[in-house]
Amino acid sequence: MRLTLIGTGYVGLVAAVCFAKLGHEVTAVDREQVIHGLMESKLSVWEPELDTLLADTRDSGKLFFDTDVARAAAGADALMIAVGTPTRVDGYTDLRQIREVLGHLMQSGICPPLVIIKSTVPVGTCDELEVSLHAAGLLTEVAYNPEFLRQGSAVYDFLEPDRIVFGCKSHHAETLLRQLYEGINAPVQVCDRRSAELVKYASNAFLAMKISFANMMSDLCEGYGADIRQVVEGVGSDQRIGPDFLKAGVGYGGSCFTKDLKSLLTSGRLIGCSLPLLEATAKINDQRISRMFAKLLSIWMNPIGKRLCVLGISFKPNTNDVRDAPFLALLSHCQRHGIEVHAYDPVVHYVPADGVNVMDSPYDAVRNADAVIIMTEWPQFASLDWPRMIQHMRLPLVLDGRNLLSDEVIAQIIDVNGAIYMPVGRSIDQHLPK
Ligand SMILES: NC(=O)c1ccc[n+]([C@@H]2O[C@H](COP(=O)([O-])OP(=O)(O)OC[C@H]3O[C@@H](n4cnc5c(N)ncnc54)[C@H](O)[C@@H]3O)[C@@H](O)[C@H]2O)c1
Repeated sequence: MRLTLIGTGYVGLVAAVCFAKLGHEVTAVDREQVIHGLMESKLSVWEPELDTLLADTRDSGKLFFDTDVARAAAGADALMIAVGTPTRVDGYTDLRQIREVLGHLMQSGICPPLVIIKSTVPVGTCDELEVSLHAAGLLTEVAYNPEFLRQGSAVYDFLEPDRIVFGCKSHHAETLLRQLYEGINAPVQVCDRRSAELVKYASNAFLAMKISFANMMSDLCEGYGADIRQVVEGVGSDQRIGPDFLKAGVGYGGSCFTKDLKSLLTSGRLIGCSLPLLEATAKINDQRISRMFAKLLSIWMNPIGKRLCVLGISFKPNTNDVRDAPFLALLSHCQRHGIEVHAYDPVVHYVPADGVNVMDSPYDAVRNADAVIIMTEWPQFASLDWPRMIQHMRLPLVLDGRNLLSDEVIAQIIDVNGAIYMPVGRSIDQHLPK
């Protein structure tokens, strides 16, 4: 198949290289600056396996780049849109990037027979987009094909998904979509477009809810001297519940959960349907950083002039994405309290915010710090030389926002190095130097 794919961000680029790997001829379109970088193999997106797959598919003549939507769309069997759909301050989803793409198609009069929306869009959007294309004389069908990949394992998730969902009206659209995914072995659900749009939002809302549930229970564990790790192990081994997304910590971040929850709440408000579970999910998450920060202040008393070492900037491991990362919320707390931040992340070397020094190594970042806080679950943080880290510090205080350190490491830094260790969802008294 000839596929034109608009948007080469986290979703679009992964989709483009994966469809090319499946044997389709893919032309990926983005803004001049982005395409210029990709032509020189400079990826703004950091994902395991992506760079090699990009090189392979380009070498095999299956993947091309362009900057002109209409030119790239000419002669294609389908056009897929994977541009951003951020939330506006009023909670509505901003569809301007999608409308801009449609604008190019309408102006040129060029449009493939099928337009597939891959971006996450509010319920009813595909119906509306199809109406506007038809009004412009472009008798194309709009289908919805949500993406469920996780950043950090995006290529794997795309090629080995749990399920593929097609929201479409006609048999012809379903046939084209099935052709596009030929070679991927996963159950396919075909449904109407509105249900497909809600499958995506409901899935993300449910995952966010699991995280907030674990975080809520972790507060109870701290109060009663229980251990959240044991609690979620017991809860998650029930097959009806499952262990994924049941980890307590500093809360979820990233470009999707917060935005999609807001969008879903707005969709509910528009028709007078309240969604209290989702409101609670967002509220619990919003409070995670303040709660962690309060622990820090309980030891420091006066934070002004203190230095905090932060391990982890990206919102999760194996990605360089800092959108809505818990790190950014922590940073603004620090700025308000006059705290100096020295941070380290294995792949993020720049932060689009003032008041942070990004260091080249964790040992540099921790030098003369009055506390260290683990914000991202990068596995390499667990195997740092922790006694050495502690020796570099002015005050040996460790806040483990992801419960990442092993019991052996904790015992060593407390007993040998005299550190104070503060985890999430476990009694702090268990972790004070004897
Ligand atoms: N990131 C994820 O993990 C994820 C997972 C599933 C679904 N989604 C959804 O997929 C969509 C894309 O997300 P993302 O994280 O890849 O976004 P992104 O911001 O990383 O990428 C969007 C890309 O679209 C390009 N773009 C915008 N307008 C354009 C135009 N008119 N012409 C050409 N290119 C244009 C931008 O330059 C950018 O490169 C969103 O709706 C998001 O909610 C994201």
